[in-house]
Amino acid sequence: MSEIAKIEVNGSVYEFPVIEGTENEKAINISKLRGLTGGVTTIDPGYKNTGSCESGITFLDGEKGTLRYRGYSIEELAEKADFLEVAYLLIFGELPDAATLEKFQNDIKKQSIVDEEIKKIVDAFPKAAHPMGVLSSLTSALTAFNPNSVDVDSEEAMYNAVVKIMGKFPVLVAWTMRKNQGMPFKYSDSSLGYIENILKMMFKKPGEKYVQNPVLVNALDKLLILHADHEQNCSTSTVRIVGSSHAGLFASLSAGISALWGPLHGGANQAVLEMLAGIEEDGGDTAKYMAKAKDKSDPFRLMGFGHRVYKNFDPRAKIIKVAADEVLSDLGIEDPILNIAKGLEREALADDYFVSRKLYPNVDFYSGIIYRAMGIPTEMFTVMFALGRLPGWIAQWKEMRLRKEPIGRPRQVYIGENLRSFVPVEKR
Ligand code: CMC
Repeated sequence: MSEIAKIEVNGSVYEFPVIEGTENEKAINISKLRGLTGGVTTIDPGYKNTGSCESGITFLDGEKGTLRYRGYSIEELAEKADFLEVAYLLIFGELPDAATLEKFQNDIKKQSIVDEEIKKIVDAFPKAAHPMGVLSSLTSALTAFNPNSVDVDSEEAMYNAVVKIMGKFPVLVAWTMRKNQGMPFKYSDSSLGYIENILKMMFKKPGEKYVQNPVLVNALDKLLILHADHEQNCSTSTVRIVGSSHAGLFASLSAGISALWGPLHGGANQAVLEMLAGIEEDGGDTAKYMAKAKDKSDPFRLMGFGHRVYKNFDPRAKIIKVAADEVLSDLGIEDPILNIAKGLEREALADDYFVSRKLYPNVDFYSGIIYRAMGIPTEMFTVMFALGRLPGWIAQWKEMRLRKEPIGRPRQVYIGENLRSFVPVEKR
């Protein structure tokens, strides 16, 4: 006998089924609420208690600090898999065998050519344009070069769309950075692996040989895996809701990039570094900023701390902290900003305000540190997040369409004026 939940409204009791997920998460299915009650709805700003869908992609338990893609723990994937294997797993549901993985890698390489016309679009942006705005626009521009909407019911069409965007996106990322730095655009090198190719396209200087550093390759690979999906966060929900109107894959991804841009979401990694730089400029007094973060009359928040769903240590942060230490020691970096980061981390983990609210450093606290050490400009940090999140967005978009989800259209509770009469302009 499945569980039911009862809701009493104005003396009448209504029953609703309780659904249970494979990890025993329970949810009251209120899809018939308005119909049964004659118009009563629910309200949940920020959707803190609202599930928007049933999904088989990522499992996250914020209380325990658990994150799994398709049933595999993030710890095991970060240690044993590479980014393209994880991308395949997320999008197609299973780990690829050797032949499938090789084909996936090769098909992505074949698609890593970007129409020359796109360069003109990149050129048209001012050099100082924020790379996230540029990336979102370029991803949107891909729809103009690929006008046919993908047929989600055709496995072949879906696969082709996946390798196309996975191939072209790193090129757009690299060009976005090089535009920002006034550097000539580099093409993809098909002799290289996905990560090595990204690093070369980003960092190769004219007239110089680019030498790969395995520590950086490993750190970037891990960072991308850790960012690859995170169930129904702000940008993923955006991708799903835009796609729910049957807008195309690239258009939906472009919307996801815009959602990711904000400092409370993907933009936090940039905000972390800006905050650290501000503290350094102000004399490096971390105690002063700890006090500001705790002062409710001060809008300052410690960026890179806290998480909407993790009320325990972010499991991704644990993994990436190790990679951050490796990168810093391999590159022999002594950076006052990074020392401030370490100081804040130490102080926050011992401070009752942060401990009692379960505000731990999140993945973006450490990812910003690694990106800085790698020489990636601060404004590019969120672009790197988008690069990692791409397979997750695609997987969620595909799932949403295959499950034939209805168009996303929330309700509201109207709190504006009641009916009133129009007053002509001369009488106002
Ligand atoms: N610094 C100081 N106080 C904080 C912070 C912070 N970073 N984060 C939360 N708090 C306090 C908040 O003031 C509140 O205190 P009280 O209970 O006394 O009113 C309490 O902790 C709970 O905060 P909340 O705003 O209700 O928590 P939330 O779940 O709505 O917000 C958050 C989550 C991530 C938006 C927030 O922690 C924050 O703004 N963090 C800084 C930005 C950041 O690092 N974002 C990246 C998130 S990870 C990347 C991603 O997945 O997108």
